[in-house]
Amino acid sequence: MYRIGQEEIDAVARAILSRDFFKINGSGQEVLHFEEEWKRFIGADHALLMTSGYAALASGLIGMGIGPGDEVIVPAYTYIATALAVLEVGAIPVIADTDETLTLSAADTEKKISPRTKAIIPVHIQGFPSDMDGLQAVAARHGVRILEDACQSAGGCYHVKPLGSIGDAGAFSFNYFKIITSGEGGALTTNDRTIYERALIYHDASAVAFFGSQLDGFTEPLFGGREYRVSDLTGAILREQLRRLPGIRADLKRIQRQIADRVAGSLTVAPSHDFEGDAGTTLALRFDSEEETRRFAARCAERGIGLTVPIDTGKHVYTNWTQVMEKRGAWHPRMDPYQMEENRGAASNYTPDMCSFTLDLLARTVYLAINPDWSEADADHVAKVLLGKE
Ligand SMILES: Cc1ncc(COP(=O)(O)O)c(C=O)c1O
Repeated sequence: MYRIGQEEIDAVARAILSRDFFKINGSGQEVLHFEEEWKRFIGADHALLMTSGYAALASGLIGMGIGPGDEVIVPAYTYIATALAVLEVGAIPVIADTDETLTLSAADTEKKISPRTKAIIPVHIQGFPSDMDGLQAVAARHGVRILEDACQSAGGCYHVKPLGSIGDAGAFSFNYFKIITSGEGGALTTNDRTIYERALIYHDASAVAFFGSQLDGFTEPLFGGREYRVSDLTGAILREQLRRLPGIRADLKRIQRQIADRVAGSLTVAPSHDFEGDAGTTLALRFDSEEETRRFAARCAERGIGLTVPIDTGKHVYTNWTQVMEKRGAWHPRMDPYQMEENRGAASNYTPDMCSFTLDLLARTVYLAINPDWSEADADHVAKVLLGKE
């Protein structure tokens, strides 16, 4: 979360004082307005606001028709929710290495595609775009769908196209830690009418048929799903947050570029699939060894600049995805994809060293979190600390 204040307070007050903030039929229609505004911002035909990024990922997979018997490729470095969303729909997450940018490797994805693979989930981690050209070529060669996990990259682009608008669908998170936030929240975007219809039914299973005329013109039949609906309070906050997003992004990029320009030549900025496009939340530096990386981070910490070595980020690293690595996909064994007959023979023989390329990179990278409210002098100070000059 970067910026929030009186405008969001006023928006929530407006929704509360209306005493009418159910999503459908409410007088404010804040959710529906946000969905209109978000789909325009992303450049998609459809947008659905819901409770979380996880809910958006699962709804997107349901929309793609994915279920037991299917495999979905996810990167070794992403928040565990990406893999758990695959398990929610009964499919098996197959874990692939990242490339040098710490996003899903197109080459390893292609190696891991099997006749069971139905989708891949590139994750634009820390706002850095995945290799969408490479991944789209792989997906086209093998006839698999792409669900972009843009949970950490709202406002970022890949060669001018908004992240989340490039694959068959895109999932966003608005939880507290994200670029814009409603405390908790998520959205799914897509141009595919079938994905949209199924995701709308799935994310609001009990109310969708009883409130408003949401199913008018649908060709998909009603089916049982989950309850991931949000209220107009969430919509009201996010409408204000979206107004702030272009400003947040511009400031993040300006400061990230200023620091990157200052340190380039002395330090190695990690490669990116689009330096201009990334969300700007993070500057990534790369070192030759873990020892050097940790020495660098410790020296900066002594001077008040906290850096993250991503191998330390817990549930973002596949080796720490306990439920996945130990194959407990659900509480009830009959609901557990790892025990389903349809998934017998799926590629789930996970081992801690199966993506050692990614682990090595994670231990040789530091992330500097950019603050969009840093002044030029603040950014200059940070750059000097990184350079060992202060
Ligand atoms: C890459 C990634 N995917 C998915 C999620 C899940 O989002 P949420 O916490 O809103 O369910 C997150 C959130 O932390 C994330 O960072």
